[in-house]
Amino acid sequence: MRELTPETITDAVLDQMATTTDPRMREVMAAAVRHLHAFAREVNLTPAEWIKGIEFMTAVGQTCTPARQECILLSDTLGLSALVNGLHDSTAMEVGTHTSLLGPFYREATPTLATGSQIAGNVKPGSECALYGRVTDVNGGPLAGATVSIWQTGADGLYDIQESATSIDYRGVFTTDADGVFALRTVKPIGYSIPMDGPVGDMIRAQGRHGMRPAHIHFLVGAPGFRELVTALYLRDDPHLADDVVFGSSDDLAIDIAANDPDCPIKGLPSIRFDMRLSRESAADKTGGRVGADPSAIPQQPARTGNGQSPIPAPAAG
Ligand code: BEZ
Ligand code: FE
Repeated sequence: MRELTPETITDAVLDQMATTTDPRMREVMAAAVRHLHAFAREVNLTPAEWIKGIEFMTAVGQTCTPARQECILLSDTLGLSALVNGLHDSTAMEVGTHTSLLGPFYREATPTLATGSQIAGNVKPGSECALYGRVTDVNGGPLAGATVSIWQTGADGLYDIQESATSIDYRGVFTTDADGVFALRTVKPIGYSIPMDGPVGDMIRAQGRHGMRPAHIHFLVGAPGFRELVTALYLRDDPHLADDVVFGSSDDLAIDIAANDPDCPIKGLPSIRFDMRLSRESAADKTGGRVGADPSAIPQQPARTGNGQSPIPAPAAG
């Protein structure tokens, strides 16, 4: 029997895990263990701190519901989501529009609307604006029939589903015309706080961070044969443009609202223009996934018995 020490434990774990048959899982788990052990050594982690971490992770998991993904929120606020996004971007065949986080408020069930429609059910005087742009390939060639899904907060800084789980507002899917143009009416977005009533909020407060995202509008743009684009546009004059709590904003996605843009196809409103360039799709893009998900589409775990048998077997008939 070997005597394991803080110096030898890492190799012992790596040796035992070397039987993992899936090569990618073997690589990812070996690196995770090496870095996790290095972290514990670096900070000389105490048992009390370790149990506090376990309690925190438990609370993060227990806060998740079909409508709320606290694990993704943790990843977002630690910058991991933005990092994974950036790594994924660097695998694109071509350099298209910069991406940004999908966030937890995307919903697959979004109504398809006619060009020019207003996506907000309740438009306060002075808040309405037009939003338009062209979807093209990286050479500027128009992509006709591309789908442009858009979602944002209302004037209160809340998404529809934060008001009520079944409400659908401030979101819509539009289709580009023969010139690749999409156009709609919306309301000016305002900055808002990420959900702060859970363990991630406790962490953000303990770190003295503000928890704010700059005002933005989300986009998910798709066209056959092109890499799906997940991005967002950020209002340049927002005070949190440079210190977004989830590290999603960037200068090249910052926009201004023009008072009177003669090119805007919707007349008489202040307007935002942004053109989206899509990279062609590679074979790997089909399996790469998005950084984020509709929380209701993330499978919930079946209940465990606690005795090592999972899930709970059906009771015997009779
Ligand atoms: C959002 O943009 O809606 C968002 C993104 C990450 C965490 C929380 C909110
Ligand atoms: Fe958002």
